Amino acid sequence: MRKFSDMISFPNYYQSFDWKTSTLKAKGLVDVEMSGCWRKEHFKNENPLVLELACGGGEYTVGLSAMYPDKNFIGVDIKGNRIYRGAKQCLENDYSNGAFLRCRIEILSNFFEAGEVDEIWITFPDPFLRKGKAKKRLTSPRFLDEYRKVLKPGGLVHLKTDEPNLYAYTLEVIEEDEKCTLLYQDDDIYSKELPLPELGIKTYYEQLHEDQGATIKYVRYTIH
Ligand SMILES: C[S@@+](CC[C@H](N)C(=O)[O-])C[C@H]1O[C@@H](n2cnc3c(N)ncnc32)[C@H](O)[C@@H]1O
Repeated sequence: MRKFSDMISFPNYYQSFDWKTSTLKAKGLVDVEMSGCWRKEHFKNENPLVLELACGGGEYTVGLSAMYPDKNFIGVDIKGNRIYRGAKQCLENDYSNGAFLRCRIEILSNFFEAGEVDEIWITFPDPFLRKGKAKKRLTSPRFLDEYRKVLKPGGLVHLKTDEPNLYAYTLEVIEEDEKCTLLYQDDDIYSKELPLPELGIKTYYEQLHEDQGATIKYVRYTIH
């Protein structure tokens, strides 16, 4: 409980549990409207804005903030105890370009304006393997439509996963959506030189699955 009361006072943390409103709670539970204002009001710059969805402990948000001080990053997840780790690390390291939003990804467009987001990373999302659960996959058409509302036209989406079925499913969704363009795919990124240095950032779940022998897969695509 102390973690949560600490976290709500963090200057890099926002939360919403209400599906119907665009209002977020920030520092000390103050109501704020951030849609269209993240650069100006939070980051105080005009740099590109990148989201990490299903960020968990925010390893990508923290790692990318360190690697790219000239970009802004927001980790998004519904689980507060995981976000706490990333938000605290950004504060302790003075990564003022890293922030966190606790909300359901289904309502992302409540909190970002059309075209406000430059890129999206989806890191080791739950695969929801049962057929009836496909709509919950973060790379399903339903979620792509939500990303379309906030991503600039042609904005990049990156997926990192160890799950072969989710990897194959995502490639199928891209193939079937005429407004998506596949840019890169690899079902075993560590078997060769990494095409991007940031692909070497390892998340908590990535490490867990790699230790159990999983190979790590990566897909990069654009959505219009
Ligand atoms: C398997 S964990 C991966 C966490 C982290 N990216 C990692 O690799 O260690 C999946 C995360 O997605 C979050 N998540 C799943 N569905 C979500 C949704 N609809 N909205 C917000 N967060 C969600 C869960 O809370 C969980 O932290």
